[in-house]
Amino acid sequence: MKISVIGTGYVGLVTGAVFADMGNEVVGADIDQRKVDRLNEGVMPIYEPGLEEMVRRNQAERRLRFTSDVDWAIQNTEVVFICVGTPPKNGGETDLSFVESVAVKIGKNLNGHKVVVNKSTVPVGTGDFVKKVVLMNKRTDVDFEVVSNPEFLREGSAIADALNPSRVVIGASTEDAAMKVMELYATLEAPVFITDVASAELIKYASNAFLAMKISFINAIANICEKSGANVTEVSKAVGADQRIGPEFLNAGLGYGGSCFPKDVVSLERTARKLGCDFALLREVMKINDGRVDHFISRVTKRFPNMKDCVFGVLGLAFKPNTDDMREAKSVTIIQQLISMGAKIKAYDPVAMDNARDIISDITYCDSAYGCAKDADAIILVTEWREFRLLDMRRLGDLMKSKVMFDGRNFYDPEKKKSMGFEYYGIGKGEI
Ligand SMILES: NC(=O)c1ccc[n+]([C@@H]2O[C@H](COP(=O)([O-])OP(=O)(O)OC[C@H]3O[C@@H](n4cnc5c(N)ncnc54)[C@H](O)[C@@H]3O)[C@@H](O)[C@H]2O)c1
Repeated sequence: MKISVIGTGYVGLVTGAVFADMGNEVVGADIDQRKVDRLNEGVMPIYEPGLEEMVRRNQAERRLRFTSDVDWAIQNTEVVFICVGTPPKNGGETDLSFVESVAVKIGKNLNGHKVVVNKSTVPVGTGDFVKKVVLMNKRTDVDFEVVSNPEFLREGSAIADALNPSRVVIGASTEDAAMKVMELYATLEAPVFITDVASAELIKYASNAFLAMKISFINAIANICEKSGANVTEVSKAVGADQRIGPEFLNAGLGYGGSCFPKDVVSLERTARKLGCDFALLREVMKINDGRVDHFISRVTKRFPNMKDCVFGVLGLAFKPNTDDMREAKSVTIIQQLISMGAKIKAYDPVAMDNARDIISDITYCDSAYGCAKDADAIILVTEWREFRLLDMRRLGDLMKSKVMFDGRNFYDPEKKKSMGFEYYGIGKGEI
């Protein structure tokens, strides 16, 4: 099938690469000329395990190409995927201007029947909006369909997720359009849910908001644990063993970040309000999440009441492991707050330091976790990269000024760290 993917960010690039790998002819189109040039040179704009190899292989076999000529991409394909960003506006509502500008282009370049598939995360009702914009801009008498096909991939495991999705959701108003999109996923062994467009749009928000709610829930429990002497790791293990609840997204920590959960939760709350359905629960989810960094910093402050000239080694900067994405990363606010209290920061991340440099200055970037630990008053683990589990902790501790560790993700075994002489502080495990 001839497919275009408009927007070659995390979602568009992975989607395009995977569809090409399945034998389709794919054009990735993006208005960012530099991104397109780099992709054409085989340089990935993002870090994603397995992506570079898949993109290069399909470029070499001429199933995948990239262009900044969005008009050309639309004209020459029968299925057009919209994969542009949907960031929040100041008030939290979703900014649909990127989606709208693509819809205008689709209308203007409608030279034959096309299926327009919205993969961007968009508020319920956007399918109708896209349809209206295309209709207003089309110059020919050809038909088109608008389908919603939300994306559930996770950064850091995006290729694996796209090849092995938990489910495929296709929201369409005609069977033909649904079947056309389903054909693309036919080789994957995933359950397919065919719904109306509005339901598909809502499924994405309901899923992300539910996961965010689980995270905030366990973080609220962690606060109770700190006051009561309970251990949140033990609590969440046993709570998650209930099949009705499940263990995923029950790790207490610094709260959710990244480019999706924060904006999707607020967007759903705003959509609900607009429709006259107060969703107070989501406001509480956000409030708990927003309080996580302050709570964490207050714990650090208890241990280091005077931070002036303290040196903290921050391990991990990306919003989660296996990605270089710094959008809504907790490291940014943690570092800003510590600096404002007079601390000096050294930081290390396996892949996100280039992106971090654009956002965080006035800190020392180190080339390893050991560099970070040297002469540090404490280590603060922010992102639980696997390589941090493999560190030689004795060497790390010997390099530090004082062997204090704040584990923002409950990544390490407290007893092991204590037996190595570390003063260890996790989340939801006793007061400081
Ligand atoms: N990142 C994720 O993990 C993830 C997962 C599921 C869903 N989503 C959703 O997918 C959508 C895209 O997210 P992303 O993280 O890939 O965004 P991104 O910011 O990484 O990429 C968006 C791309 O669209 C391009 N673009 C913007 N306007 C354009 C236009 N008019 N024509 C062509 N290209 C244009 C930008 O240059 C950019 O390269 C969002 O709605 C997001 O919520 C993201």
